[in-house]
Amino acid sequence: MSPTTLRFTALQRTLHWLMAICILAMLFIGVGMVSTIRPDSLSLVSAHKPLGILILVLALIRLVVRLRRGAPPLPEAMPQVMKLAAHLSHLAFYVLMIALPLLGWSMLSAADYPVVILGIQLPPIAPHSNGLHTLLWNAHRFLALCFFALIVVHLAAALFHGLIRRDGVFQTMAPWSASRSTLSTSTDLPRDSSVTRN
Ligand code: HEM
Ligand code: HEM
Repeated sequence: MSPTTLRFTALQRTLHWLMAICILAMLFIGVGMVSTIRPDSLSLVSAHKPLGILILVLALIRLVVRLRRGAPPLPEAMPQVMKLAAHLSHLAFYVLMIALPLLGWSMLSAADYPVVILGIQLPPIAPHSNGLHTLLWNAHRFLALCFFALIVVHLAAALFHGLIRRDGVFQTMAPWSASRSTLSTSTDLPRDSSVTRN
């Protein structure tokens, strides 16, 4: 199997791992805050909103970087169906990273509840309506569960590439550089790279 020789840029890798930590934390904070009525659940709620808005901002930056810099090509030997699954799962991640915070924000707007981040009140992005609030609440919860499931599948796929196929795909996103023996010609995507999977 010929290893992939290009990597995501340092900025893309930094955003990936920073956001992975934030998103995993958010999912557990979200579940934690709705599973208890103890007073400390309020501190979880006050962490959930700013962290969610931060994820939204980072996701938009990441999308722009992704569109400008592209991604290393998947190995030629990889079956088409696996390539398609990888593309679709990454697309779903981008949709979720942007839609979930927007749903949280609009859900609170529909409940006429202010979203205050670092002392600044964000404008409402949905009209006040109890019916709409219920709809958005259900959507936020359902998509958060989808996010959990997608992360589990993504983790399994990453380990499958890294430990079983050993095709270099894991190294394209690894925070560390590959050893010379496994990736002797590994390099970041060049700044003006037109290499892209799409
Ligand atoms: C990637 C970003 C986000 C993730 C992964 C996420 C995840 C979650 C999860 C897992 C829950 C618990 C759902 C349940 O079991 O009922 C939750 C609830 C909640 N989220 Fe988010 N969330 C995100 C962004 C936001 C944002 C930006 C806001 C608001 C500005 C927000 C507001 C809320 C609120 C108010 C609840 C509690 C709903 C209730 O009272 O039952 N979320 N979130
Ligand atoms: C909340 C968690 C995570 C999210 C939202 C996430 C999201 C993504 C996205 C969107 C990509 C595609 C990059 C692009 O095309 O711009 C990607 C690639 C990748 N991720 Fe994650 N990731 C997460 C966690 C992880 C974890 C825990 C691992 C490994 C243990 C991992 C390993 C990889 C690898 C190896 C790639 C490159 C391989 C490929 O492109 O298929 N990710 N991730």
